[in-house]
Amino acid sequence: MSVIDEVKQKTDIASIVSQYVTLKKAGRNLVGLCPFHDERNPSFFVYPEQQSWHCFGCNTGGDAFSFIMKKEGLDFGEALSLLAQRAGVTIPSRAGRDEEKEEKERLYKINEAAARYFHNLLLNSSEGVKARNYFQGRGFTDKTASEFQLGYSSNKWDDLKKYLQEQGYTEDELVKAGLLVESESGRIYDRFRNKLMFPILDIKGHVIGFGARVLDDSQPKYVNSPQTPAFNKSGSLYGINLAAAGIRQQDTAVIVEGYVDVITAHQNGFNNVVASMGTSVTEAQVSSLKRLTRNLVLALDADAAGEEAMLRGVSYENIIESEIRVAILPQGKDPDDVVKEDADAWRRLLSEAMPIVDYTINMIAGKLDLDTARDKSRAVKELLPVITAMNDKVRQAHYIQKLAHLVKVSERTIEAELSRLKPGPERKRVAVPAPEKATDTPRALLSNRLEEDYLTLLLQHPEYKANTENILPEYFFNSENREVFITWNKVDELARLRDALDVTLHEHLDVIASRELPSNRLDEKDADYRQRLEERYYKKLAEEIGGILAIEAAEKGSGADVAKLDEIGIEYSLHLKELYDRKSRKRLESRR
Ligand code: GTP
Ligand code: MN
Repeated sequence: MSVIDEVKQKTDIASIVSQYVTLKKAGRNLVGLCPFHDERNPSFFVYPEQQSWHCFGCNTGGDAFSFIMKKEGLDFGEALSLLAQRAGVTIPSRAGRDEEKEEKERLYKINEAAARYFHNLLLNSSEGVKARNYFQGRGFTDKTASEFQLGYSSNKWDDLKKYLQEQGYTEDELVKAGLLVESESGRIYDRFRNKLMFPILDIKGHVIGFGARVLDDSQPKYVNSPQTPAFNKSGSLYGINLAAAGIRQQDTAVIVEGYVDVITAHQNGFNNVVASMGTSVTEAQVSSLKRLTRNLVLALDADAAGEEAMLRGVSYENIIESEIRVAILPQGKDPDDVVKEDADAWRRLLSEAMPIVDYTINMIAGKLDLDTARDKSRAVKELLPVITAMNDKVRQAHYIQKLAHLVKVSERTIEAELSRLKPGPERKRVAVPAPEKATDTPRALLSNRLEEDYLTLLLQHPEYKANTENILPEYFFNSENREVFITWNKVDELARLRDALDVTLHEHLDVIASRELPSNRLDEKDADYRQRLEERYYKKLAEEIGGILAIEAAEKGSGADVAKLDEIGIEYSLHLKELYDRKSRKRLESRR
């Protein structure tokens, strides 16, 4: 059970509210003067059975968390501490979050010290000679070596370990930073030995990890830092610290695979280049570039491009809300080779980059004989999932036309296929930097299906945030969900959302952000969730008012303004009817 649930379980809304409001019994409920607005007749109700409250005068409500937040002007984490204290629950508290931050800062410092150490060894030591020769052999200048803080790790087993321990860092910390490893026999020694070192910096200039290359042809060619609290391997981009300005200026980012490719590109003036560091590009990487530009070019060899195109291209596009292009490298060449041989060829390659969807279409069409019925059908089968996945309906329409043209059938035939194609393809989801995998969702974490389904949609497809205008935070009965909803409307990136949320909410966020939703008909889903949330809210209020009025009729005496409540009740019923009508109209429309 999460601390939040534990606090909820041990908290009684009535006793919390009674600290601020004189409550009177009214049947199963309690009633009092609203502490949030001026009133003479009470319209503030507490429902002990549901552990919730609502004021019909100012139309706000929620649970103990939202009450305390509103009443004391606290944020979620502060309200949690207060309630936890009352309930006698110990929480990792705010300190948890601060500790997390401090831990990261400490790791940055360690890495920075290591980077300086390696750099110095490369430039100034006699053992660094072979590494100096190596980088010069690769055509790097001294200026480049210092810009990228290239380094050399000595061939001894514990050179760095000794040095950093002298600086006051503990063995434990150094292991945590990924700089030391422990052998099976328990011996702890330097991870990086006799390598050319590439410090990996984040956009703010923190050294978050290292890539390290052997100086000869031995294998494995590279060793990298492991995942650490400071280094999210799959979300980082090599060179981003030096490329950010260039990316902004040119309003384009070029993503390559290798460290060396980035360095050679920058040395030759192409300063908007970053590397995915070997693995295929991740959604987190794409998402992190969105702040700088909407124009992405992937410089890949044909094999890698083919893979990205089929599998992930469109989901990147959905994230960045724009077209992704691919620049295909000549067979057997890296960007490093191309740039060095002929900078103009590299320029041309980039300017000829093709939208990844067109590339996909060409690639598949190239393998088929589109004069035959069988291959036409195959082309449509293979390409429709790609086109279906597009969020941008205008571009989708464009590609439906293109596909129709390609296989020489009518657009209507393609569209008919498209609507048959449900449920849509399973797509990979935006990866929140999640410490644990969220597949085995503990029941307790998913407390409110509708709210969480809607949040998953909003988290994975932020474009639907545009429709949240009329969604009241009150529609979320669960205060964790409400908090996620409110905060997500203030920030525009998952990583930022995570930072902005109290650390006690991280697990909940990770779970809802990484769940699988059916990936098609999202527009409908969005509208449906919103409708249901609103309906549920007004239904609950109407029921509550009904209950209150029934009690008033039977026993009277709570002092509530029955006439006014009656009026509000009628208003809610009318609103509900409107909502139902809207729904049945929609149903009729969709049947036609
Ligand atoms: P050079 O071969 O020296 O030109 O380096 P490169 O950076 O061009 O490497 P390459 O194109 O072969 O690979 C691209 C990227 O994949 C590298 O920069 C590394 O980030 C990663 N990579 C390559 N080989 C390995 C390996 O053996 N282990 C790991 N962990 N990563 C690798
Ligand atoms: Mn290379």
